[in-house]
Amino acid sequence: MSLNPVISVLGRKLRLAVIGGGPGSFIGAMHRLAAQLDNRYELVAAALSSDPEKCLKAGLELGLPADRVYASGLALIAAEQAHPHGADVVAIMTPNDSHFELATAALQHGFDVICDKPMTNTLEEAERLCATVRETGKVFCLTHNYTGYPMARQAKEMVAAGMLGELRLIQVEYVQGFNAREVPAQPGSWRHDPVKGGPSLVMGDIGTHAHNLLRFITGLEVEEVAAEVGSIVPGRVVHDYAGAMLRLSRGVRGSFWVTQAASGVENSLAIRVSGSKGTLEWNQEVPQILKFKPLDGPAEERTPNGPEVLPLAARSSRIVRGHPEGFPEAFANLYSDAAEAIAARRTGTQVNPLALHFPNAEDGLAGVRFVAAVIASSSAQGAWTRVG
Ligand SMILES: NC(=O)c1ccc[n+]([C@@H]2O[C@H](COP(=O)([O-])OP(=O)(O)OC[C@H]3O[C@@H](n4cnc5c(N)ncnc54)[C@H](O)[C@@H]3O)[C@@H](O)[C@H]2O)c1
Repeated sequence: MSLNPVISVLGRKLRLAVIGGGPGSFIGAMHRLAAQLDNRYELVAAALSSDPEKCLKAGLELGLPADRVYASGLALIAAEQAHPHGADVVAIMTPNDSHFELATAALQHGFDVICDKPMTNTLEEAERLCATVRETGKVFCLTHNYTGYPMARQAKEMVAAGMLGELRLIQVEYVQGFNAREVPAQPGSWRHDPVKGGPSLVMGDIGTHAHNLLRFITGLEVEEVAAEVGSIVPGRVVHDYAGAMLRLSRGVRGSFWVTQAASGVENSLAIRVSGSKGTLEWNQEVPQILKFKPLDGPAEERTPNGPEVLPLAARSSRIVRGHPEGFPEAFANLYSDAAEAIAARRTGTQVNPLALHFPNAEDGLAGVRFVAAVIASSSAQGAWTRVG
């Protein structure tokens, strides 16, 4: 196996430009770390902030030359296209309302794109962006990073191998507590402005992650929802909880529960998948353990690089068993897989099919459709509502 499948195909690392993720952004630092972990990208340009002064200061602190630090994302896209050694890939980690404009511009200027979730704030934008991805043929990776964990990938493979039998029930939750106080955790943030943050804060922030994880592991689509979304903390204007009963493809039933207002809870993204032959359970707070409970046998565990680990999970873990990996490594798995797909696209070579499990624009569209259906169902007093 090659030490660096991008350099071995392309002869160099991919040149990466980032938009957003400047001072104060947790996820911006994660994107840059993820890009560098497997040595497949070189950061060559940035527009890190909407404030030009902060932008320049932060870009210089990252070691970029001043002429590759741009005052806006659109300026970066135009200049990097014209640059003789310009970026190959644009990564977007700005507030939600700018994803559509920046991603569309980047694709139309010839870049492959890595974009944070939710893909867009509106369904119309999601449909148009998806169409642009199809038309341009570029790689589009949406950073639903929890699908990069080795044990989430193992769960997907065990479901696909039929180890659970016929799927019957799915429970997914994403429960956080950082916004349980009456004073918002991030006062003044774009998240509290529905024009920037989107029609539902909790759904855009974490509901799309839970929905994506469910689809990733089970391969099922959510077809109908009976939902309620709203605010549980007194005085809160934006949504801080949502719950839904789910009707999924193949007659499977499910439940979905997300909140950012469960006092004391940290980051419980958890899923239980039950079929006719057994159940799988995974929680990202303990990401190295996947529980498997067969119908007719004792409960078992799978661990990264442990016994009976399947190929996609095996390729997603860098170290020997018993040595925990976490959030940055899972995030890096998406970046590294996307890099292989981009290198193959640019050179017209075959890509390892195992590299193609990163979330894409179609997954992003499914997420935005799900958000719209949850809101519509809630507005109709929880009536069963079709997704899409
Ligand atoms: N994948 C994940 O787990 C995850 C986690 C957190 C946030 N996110 C997503 O990342 C995005 C950013 O969220 P955040 O928490 O970093 O927000 P944030 O407010 O903490 O940081 C946003 C950063 O982008 C900069 N910025 C704002 N507008 C810009 C523009 N037009 N051009 C360039 N830079 C701009 C700001 O100066 C700031 O540095 C959102 O879409 C959010 O949903 C994803």
